[in-house]
Amino acid sequence: MRLALLGCGTVGAEVVRLLNEQSADLAARIGAPLEIAGIAVRRLGRDRGDLPVDPGLFTTDALGLIKRDDVDVVVEVIGGIEPARGWLVEALRAGKSVVTANKALLAEDGGALHDAAAEGGGDLYYEASVAGAIPLLRPLRESLHGDRITQVTGIVNGTTNFILSAMHATGAGFAEALEEATELGYAEADPTADVEGFDAAAKAAILASLAFHTRVGAADVHREGITEVTAADMASAKAMGCTIKLLCIAARGADGQGRETVSVRVHPAMIPLTHPLASVGDAFNAVFVEAEAAGQLMFYGRGAGGAPTASAVLGDVVAVARNRLAGVRVASESAYAALPVRPMGEALTRYHISLDVADRPGVLEAVAGVFARHDVSIATVRQGPSGGGNGDAVLVIVTHVAPDAALAATVQELRGLDIVRSVASVLRVEGGL
Ligand code: NDP
Ligand code: HSE
Repeated sequence: MRLALLGCGTVGAEVVRLLNEQSADLAARIGAPLEIAGIAVRRLGRDRGDLPVDPGLFTTDALGLIKRDDVDVVVEVIGGIEPARGWLVEALRAGKSVVTANKALLAEDGGALHDAAAEGGGDLYYEASVAGAIPLLRPLRESLHGDRITQVTGIVNGTTNFILSAMHATGAGFAEALEEATELGYAEADPTADVEGFDAAAKAAILASLAFHTRVGAADVHREGITEVTAADMASAKAMGCTIKLLCIAARGADGQGRETVSVRVHPAMIPLTHPLASVGDAFNAVFVEAEAAGQLMFYGRGAGGAPTASAVLGDVVAVARNRLAGVRVASESAYAALPVRPMGEALTRYHISLDVADRPGVLEAVAGVFARHDVSIATVRQGPSGGGNGDAVLVIVTHVAPDAALAATVQELRGLDIVRSVASVLRVEGGL
């Protein structure tokens, strides 16, 4: 079984290392030896340290490598949309099996890859694309196929989890915690994809597609990052017995006519410290799956890093290699349900709102009136002195579940009230309170 490795960076180099270290075991598990036919990279002259591989295998001609007749499996760990998309479509159409860790591509145009796999008859596996080492996609697409998944809630970005965990532990602000994450090598030089939620949104799209048998792309995911989360937000969350996490939430629901829909969103949210996801610290990932018959399932582990991600890549390589030897193909996509994706405004959620208000008669009534006008029911209200010594008060309001659009309109109207000095913090609340 011969494989073409596209990319030899953080993940690719570990794939090479593990392939080398475990070659005898892998051959025994697959039923045939696994050999690297070639490794496509961008810079031939790059120092690759003591990588245990013949330097003659490196090439910059990825397409030429993919097209070789002696290549059975293409492993893509380059990343990005192009040229990866064109190369993988070419490989799949030619009947090769593909293993990829490329969440951005799968979320952008997974359909093109699945169509090409169906056309060529090879497998398309991508376990490493979501939550790194955690076996999650295979359970969703195989083990749970006899069940009906109702919701997937996850922490799927390690960088932001590290930052938010640091903010919770030390009271640091976002910028300070990001600096620490960068110094320790958790955050990339350009952290935009992580802190603005793009990385988590791509993973959310992949999870939703598998969970709900529906093609969901990155553009279908409501996305908010963590750059606006302040030390005051975290302090407010802690005062309520909560913490703040960047959550990806994919849920079944229904529209106004009772037709089944899905909603997929990524945003920071307050969760109670008793919630299973609250204790997921550092750069770890965890995903909580709820299914009708299975009940609640939790998946936890390392979501990034060379070796953990290479572990998932190699698991896929073994699976597709076995399939090829057996002459079978596993349908990688199940999109028969084709459920419509509900806009964020219709998603049902809860808000925690902290207001600085004038402390005088009628203020509570005026504030409550705004909620009532938007048909948003208040669950709890807490009032305390503002701490500014100016006679103002702080009102902390937690709502019941309501459509997100109604909650957002409530906050907008509150901002316009004279008696509201400022809307200090607005956070969604998940997982009960
Ligand atoms: P790196 O940037 O470390 O490595 C990218 C590799 O691709 C390099 O070897 C580079 O070549 C090669 N490459 C880039 N452009 C081209 C090109 N045009 N032609 C040929 N080769 C090219 O990326 P990572 O290993 O971190 O990530 C790879 C994939 O895995 C991405 O899709 C990422 O999202 C995903 N992933 C990564 C995780 C992680 O923890 N790093 C976790 C989960 C998924 P050269 O070496 O010459 O520069
Ligand atoms: N940047 C990602 C993270 C890597 O922080 O989780 C894994 O996809």
